[in-house]
Amino acid sequence: MQKNPLAQLIQEDQFVGWVCQLDYVQAVVVTNDLWKIQARGIPLNCFLLATAIDPKFPGESKETAREIILLRVSGSAALPVADQLLRAKVENFKNRTATISAHELDEVTKSELQFSGLECRVLGTFFEQNGALRLGSDIESYLNAAELKVYCPKAAALETIINYISPERAAATAQEAVRLGFKSGLPRFPIGTVRYTSTDRLHRGDATQYVKFYLNAVDFLARRTAVLGMTRTGKSNTIKQLVSVVMRTSSQGGLKIGQIIYDLNGEYANANQQDKGSIAEVYPKDTIRYRILPVPGFQPILNNFYTQIQEGHSTVRALIEAGQVPRSPDVEAFLSITFDEPRREDFEDEKVWVAQHARYQRKTAAYQTVLARAGFELPAGFKIKFEASHTVRQLVNPTVDPRDGLTPTQAATWFDLARQIQEQLYSTGTNPWFDPDTKALVNLLLQKNDQGGYIPGYRMLQPYKEYHSPSRTSDVSDEIYKHLVDGKIVILDLSVGDAAQRDRLSKRIAQHIFKSSMANFNLGQHPPHIVIYIEEAHNLIGRNEALTETWPRIVKEGAKARIATVYATQEVSSIHPNILSNTENIFVSHLNNENEFRELAKFYDFRDFESSIMHTQDVGFNRVKTLSNPFVIPVQIDKFNPELEKQRAG
Ligand SMILES: Nc1ncnc2c1ncn2[C@@H]1O[C@H](COP(=O)(O)OP(=O)(O)OP(=O)(O)O)[C@@H](O)[C@H]1O
Ligand SMILES: [Mg+2]
Repeated sequence: MQKNPLAQLIQEDQFVGWVCQLDYVQAVVVTNDLWKIQARGIPLNCFLLATAIDPKFPGESKETAREIILLRVSGSAALPVADQLLRAKVENFKNRTATISAHELDEVTKSELQFSGLECRVLGTFFEQNGALRLGSDIESYLNAAELKVYCPKAAALETIINYISPERAAATAQEAVRLGFKSGLPRFPIGTVRYTSTDRLHRGDATQYVKFYLNAVDFLARRTAVLGMTRTGKSNTIKQLVSVVMRTSSQGGLKIGQIIYDLNGEYANANQQDKGSIAEVYPKDTIRYRILPVPGFQPILNNFYTQIQEGHSTVRALIEAGQVPRSPDVEAFLSITFDEPRREDFEDEKVWVAQHARYQRKTAAYQTVLARAGFELPAGFKIKFEASHTVRQLVNPTVDPRDGLTPTQAATWFDLARQIQEQLYSTGTNPWFDPDTKALVNLLLQKNDQGGYIPGYRMLQPYKEYHSPSRTSDVSDEIYKHLVDGKIVILDLSVGDAAQRDRLSKRIAQHIFKSSMANFNLGQHPPHIVIYIEEAHNLIGRNEALTETWPRIVKEGAKARIATVYATQEVSSIHPNILSNTENIFVSHLNNENEFRELAKFYDFRDFESSIMHTQDVGFNRVKTLSNPFVIPVQIDKFNPELEKQRAG
């Protein structure tokens, strides 16, 4: 026979007292030293269960009593006789003549003294419906004279309480699992164990007492998760745990989940000194690392300006626009150039397309020549190639055909001659060889404006040389997105390189991911599952950031397109309030000041943990609110264990 789900929560040896006062929001529990000792102590913030049910005969309780009230210890409560008892205690100590004396208390007083009160907050009510356990997040009614016994749950009962998921959410999880192609339901990730207090000698004296806390994949995927807390309190460790559980889920369930980590300190990409084992080392086959500066084992984040023409040009354009470059007609002309390659399918007449394409090639070639002149390092063996008509070739230099490829110096000479001849032949400006964009580029190359006056020309590009990488062959954003679709872990090691460049590049990549997935979503398709991890998030989604900016948009709207974001910061108050209130999962370790705590206390029942959050600095000791859990649960996050994860990954 299946056991009654309510009765399963009651552990008789964990009896700790009686409810002596109850209303809709709080309760006072009277307890006794003996019961406390038997239950191995009652830590602040621990859960208690209050019920009138007899666990042996749960069915025999009155209908009104068939429930269990979930309480959280929030402090001590003075019992009515507290004053007298205190007096008796003080008198006893005063009468002592030695620290060890025969003046013991009489048995009656001693037993009286052992009683004390606990103040508790009502978190909800467990009840049974159609054989299943349900949790209401309040209390429906209470009886003043009810005799409610109180238990301090441990082991299995505690695990049920903290991992409770409503039947509705469980059904939604099952549905989502089917849609994603999981055979055995959406998994949940074990990420830590219950911990009430910093001093955990009694309630978690050894590992057998640990009670596992799970994070549900359905709560995490396509959701927002905040990891908050002071420096060195285990935020990055929590992120590593998350990365590895997602990895495990995806490989066990055969579902591809791409993960991208914005690694500001290089701690995920490299094994660092303090911690052995980095994500990259644990998952060598599934991790792709990117860096701004070229290093073995890392892909360059930078684009190759000679081959990713549009990317490179728009990078330079954005830099010029953001910088203090004086605007002149030639600068403006450069900024307004577009490099859209004409596509055959857009043209009815093939001849028109061929002519357009040849123009595009000449423009591209002129641009490449400008880049070379400005000192952008050439890719190995790179040649500049373009079409020029027979007539033009004859006039410029009959011995070279640019279709065969020119060196940048040859190309520069060719364009210079071509311009001179054009000016002689077509002084009226009709029938130009160069379209306006190519002309503007040739002007930059030769440092001459249309009237022949001196301009700085290609020199204006020189400051941006380090944004180019000669070794890339495809657009970096595109390449990264492909890796994510393929379920890989992409680590952007942003620990080196110029800060402004780093910010721009990271934003571009994020933008590309968001755009690609949104486009997918807007077409009515299922975008791939992607998780984005952001460290030092206050810089990207700060309170002064406009919500229309790339980063806030990703965090706010990405969920639609199945992009989950996990952001870590030590500055709760600097995060955009709108984003924080839209965050489904919150992990908090230690905060050291009132202001930061006050921001957090606006959410859920974090207020219950004020003293714990403000005073305990234990690494990895978190208070966790997840989407499925109706209340905050104190959890010690497991330490990321590279060796174990390596074994698991096989
Ligand atoms: N749950 C944990 N159990 C034990 N040790 C931990 C735990 N979490 C982190 N640590 C250790 O504590 C140190 C600091 O952790 P971590 O780097 O994760 O903190 P952080 O909050 O990210 O710090 P920062 O603000 O500097 O980024 C590391 O050496 C790490 O190995
Ligand atoms: Mg960190």
